Amino acid sequence: PATRNFTWDVEYIMWAPDCHQSVMIGINGEFPGPTISANAGDLIRVEVTNSLHTEGVVIHWHGIRQIGTPWADGTASISQCPINSGERFTYEFIADKPGTFFYHGHFGMQRAAGLYGSLIVNGTEQQPEPFAAEYDGELNMLLSDWYHENVYAQAAGLDGKDKHWEWVGEPQTILINGRGQFGCSLGITGDRRACDRRKRDALCKEGDKSERCELIRRSECGPFCERSQCSPVVFDVDPGKTYRLRIASTTSLSALNVQVQGHKLTVVEADGNFVAPFDVDDIDIYSGETYSVLLTTDQRASSSSYWISVGVRGRRPKTPPALAILNYTNSKPGRSSWPASVPPATPAWDNVTRSKEFTYRIKARDGTPTPAAAAVDRRITMLNTQDWVQGHVKWAINHVTLSLPATPYLGAYFYGIEDIAFDSSGESPDGYDRRYDIKKPPGAQAPAARVPTTASDRVFRIAHGAVVDVVLQNANALEEDVSESHPWHLHGHDFWVLGYGDGVYDHARDSRKLDTATPPLRNTVVLFPHGWTVLRFVADNPGVWAFHCHIEPHLHLGMGVIFAEGMEKLRELNVPREAITCGEAKTASLSLAPAV
Ligand code: C2O
Ligand code: CU
Repeated sequence: PATRNFTWDVEYIMWAPDCHQSVMIGINGEFPGPTISANAGDLIRVEVTNSLHTEGVVIHWHGIRQIGTPWADGTASISQCPINSGERFTYEFIADKPGTFFYHGHFGMQRAAGLYGSLIVNGTEQQPEPFAAEYDGELNMLLSDWYHENVYAQAAGLDGKDKHWEWVGEPQTILINGRGQFGCSLGITGDRRACDRRKRDALCKEGDKSERCELIRRSECGPFCERSQCSPVVFDVDPGKTYRLRIASTTSLSALNVQVQGHKLTVVEADGNFVAPFDVDDIDIYSGETYSVLLTTDQRASSSSYWISVGVRGRRPKTPPALAILNYTNSKPGRSSWPASVPPATPAWDNVTRSKEFTYRIKARDGTPTPAAAAVDRRITMLNTQDWVQGHVKWAINHVTLSLPATPYLGAYFYGIEDIAFDSSGESPDGYDRRYDIKKPPGAQAPAARVPTTASDRVFRIAHGAVVDVVLQNANALEEDVSESHPWHLHGHDFWVLGYGDGVYDHARDSRKLDTATPPLRNTVVLFPHGWTVLRFVADNPGVWAFHCHIEPHLHLGMGVIFAEGMEKLRELNVPREAITCGEAKTASLSLAPAV
């Protein structure tokens, strides 16, 4: 195994990801951040300098299990202290297995500010991928969504009290590898003269209010301009070959659907795990998920380029689909031509049945470890609700909304100062009162089931080695007849997805339907509206791990829990002190004898 070294400067940059310039968080002057590519087993070492002058930063390696390195997980207040402005911190961890991953900021809403990039781990002789021989080349697609309102305004709105609560709404643009086109449908600004401000003015007479001119004026730099930051992504492919298309989603909000015009997709990987291959016309992908699909360039008859279209699912679409181009290089090598046809339309946004059908088809590939038949040590049911807490809108689990402490959990447990470091004592509740009606908003519950939601920094303490089942139980949000999809992501582990269903999970009835023979391993799983999802993991990785909804504003509003796992083993780990020495841990580190 090799060591892969990276030196990163995290800084504010002016960028026009969708032809519209704004301030973003970039790495080494770029957006998205550099792609990390490594082989399974390699040591990845990233020296991060925080050059943001007004805020701390951390970087999370999404999908990397951090076996034995919980301090490198990059979660502020959980696994480490934020890296202060002007300071430097080095992450060091093993790329433990092949797969498609990504990284992103995990402090405040920095992910939504553009702090992310791809992380690709290739198979090796020791850790081969079973479909390695089935493809000739690779394509990589990192999906995200983008708001013109900056994240500070977004967060302030979400934090607003009573009538000051403000929700930014739907994103303006979907980005593919950091590129999208806002307000310039690919045809309209195709005139290259629009790239030059002087010529651009000449293209439209003053006062010309036509749509075309409005669009030309609005685009800071058209998608066709040289060095444009928003030109559509073109994937050059050879005809008659098979490609592995890696797709990862780090959206703030949107659930997406991906189609490649005229091409079937064979799903082979999900979240760094191998799935039993199956063919589809398009795939759904939720924030936090990754897939690899194989596609064969067998469509040379009618056209030499095809649209890749990425549209919004599950929410009334106010964000236009993103487009990229699959360009067969037989006719115009090195140059792309726009496909002549209309881009394929995304399936109806509210067809949840279709989304479920796709999701339910994902099963483990033969040879994937299955959950031991042995008894489950603990079952935790997590009711997902939205509620008011002292004038603030929050998301909650078993009526508790997560509020992160100033002292990172890992530091508090490491120094044994949890009593003084946290506001709340005791454990998070393992379930909820079954009289709660998941079809009704919290305010409409019967008096007996009306439990006030409170904010807390409590954790679930999980014994080392325990087999834990989690039942995610969805419920109604604040608004009548509304329940959202939530992609839940677990840090530090993969889990088996044992099953899904509608309504209330009833263990006596529904546990028989769970699949323990071919459940897929994942790190992110969707919880459908008014439904349930059951997953299982083995607590074999001591550390403090977040388990949360991957929708950025939901996490910001407390939709997550903390697993403090194997804390009795923590002292055996080599934890760099600078990772955890802040808040109450600062004093503790001075007064306690060194641990190791
Ligand atoms: Cu990609 Cu805790 O998240
Ligand atoms: Cu959510």
